[in-house]
Amino acid sequence: MADKPGSKALWGGRFASGPSPELVALSRSVQFDWRLAPYDLLQTQAHARVLNRAGLLADDELAAVLAAIDGLGADVDSGVAQPALEDEDVHTAVERILIERLGTTGAKLRAGRSRNDQIATDLRLYLRVQARAIAAVVVELQTALTDQALDLVDAPAPGYTHLQRAQPVSFGHELAKHVHAFARDLDRLDDWDQRTSVSPLGSGALSGSALGLDPEAVAAELGFASAAANSIDAVSDRDFAAEFLFVAAMIGVHLSRLGEEVCLWTSKEFGFAKLHDSWSTGSSIMPQKKNPDIAELARGKSGRLIGDLTGFLATLKGLPFAYNRDLQEDKEPAFDAVDTLLVLIPAVTGMIATLEFDTDRMAAGAPDGHALATEIADWLVARSVPFRDAHEIAGACVQAAEARGVQLWDLDDATLAEISPALDPTVREVLSVQGALAGRTTAGGSSPASVRAQLAALQADVEACRLWAQAGVVPGAPEWLTSR
Ligand code: ARG
Repeated sequence: MADKPGSKALWGGRFASGPSPELVALSRSVQFDWRLAPYDLLQTQAHARVLNRAGLLADDELAAVLAAIDGLGADVDSGVAQPALEDEDVHTAVERILIERLGTTGAKLRAGRSRNDQIATDLRLYLRVQARAIAAVVVELQTALTDQALDLVDAPAPGYTHLQRAQPVSFGHELAKHVHAFARDLDRLDDWDQRTSVSPLGSGALSGSALGLDPEAVAAELGFASAAANSIDAVSDRDFAAEFLFVAAMIGVHLSRLGEEVCLWTSKEFGFAKLHDSWSTGSSIMPQKKNPDIAELARGKSGRLIGDLTGFLATLKGLPFAYNRDLQEDKEPAFDAVDTLLVLIPAVTGMIATLEFDTDRMAAGAPDGHALATEIADWLVARSVPFRDAHEIAGACVQAAEARGVQLWDLDDATLAEISPALDPTVREVLSVQGALAGRTTAGGSSPASVRAQLAALQADVEACRLWAQAGVVPGAPEWLTSR
């Protein structure tokens, strides 16, 4: 056993001996939660103001505390201030440094607070800020996809179902679909943010505070819409972390599906797109290789994002309410998800922005595999043939074309008449890729006009998301907070 915990630990009073080194090693979180220090400082400033209004901190003490925290915030930002080996967590480290710099005044700042409400507040603040940072890089990716899509609205390509050529589509349509998927993720972040805008501070360890504090004032100062309505719930609720991890995992899944398509498009077999040298890698043994590593890492990293979510859900399952030390396990998956997305998405954006598409190759593949058979069926339906029969007749055309080794538009008049009296040579007018695309005029469909309208709406949506991403979470946040 070590000596009784020194004056540095936050909880030594009732212990006769200090913690074992093994416990210290297990318990210590400052090596990863130090990144929350700016948020812990910010909430300490808000808390100090409330202590002052409650008559628990004199005006000159408040002024000294606010100035010391501004100084420490800058030192944390520059890396000058660091946690010490004996600091258990970020709260211990911040309190130790503030006492070093302020003397006894620094020791007053824990009144009415517990690490339980502190950590829940820090993590909410941190994730709300990071959600905007993630939204900002998603918006850049959406912009790259939209720019490429606008260039390729009139580029026909084979569209796939079951990874088999199905019907021709506009390649702008193909790219726009990914922008929609990410738009739903940004919508989720916005929705999540509104639910996360609740301040746990004032809950204390679990039952609130007897010191006449003002949780609503602290909440407003920290940019939260309200203070928590139930203090026991507030210190144990980590739904916001789990939900954040779900959105991060969903973004990861969307990145992985885009990544898989880039792998296919840039393969020799598809040949739809070429990777830029700066956004692809070579092989250490095969000099000719150009590999889509970014796309593959997008696919691969979705696995760890899903792991961050499922691992944390397992941590929460069966936990009794109020604080349990298990909850310390909320931070590493959350940090990992943030770090993963912030390093992955800009790379995917660069890869997408620099893809060079081979529109001739895509156009050549568009009608392949008798992909225009649906046009025959639709042509017949427009002439009052029931779709069930029209489907059969179009199928017979495919069979005849395959037997003769020709395309659908090569079938001669006699063959058409033989297949069905409902067919006549004017059916050939719809048997072109351009005609098939132009006909898909449903909003959201593949006609160039529809795709252009869709992209215009997407651009407006992306710009709205850009503004959301740029908006600050904490009103009048100090420089040492916003620089992160
Ligand atoms: N480091 C802890 C965490 O991250 C802070 C809360 C500790 N509370 C306690 N009662 N030991 O969860």
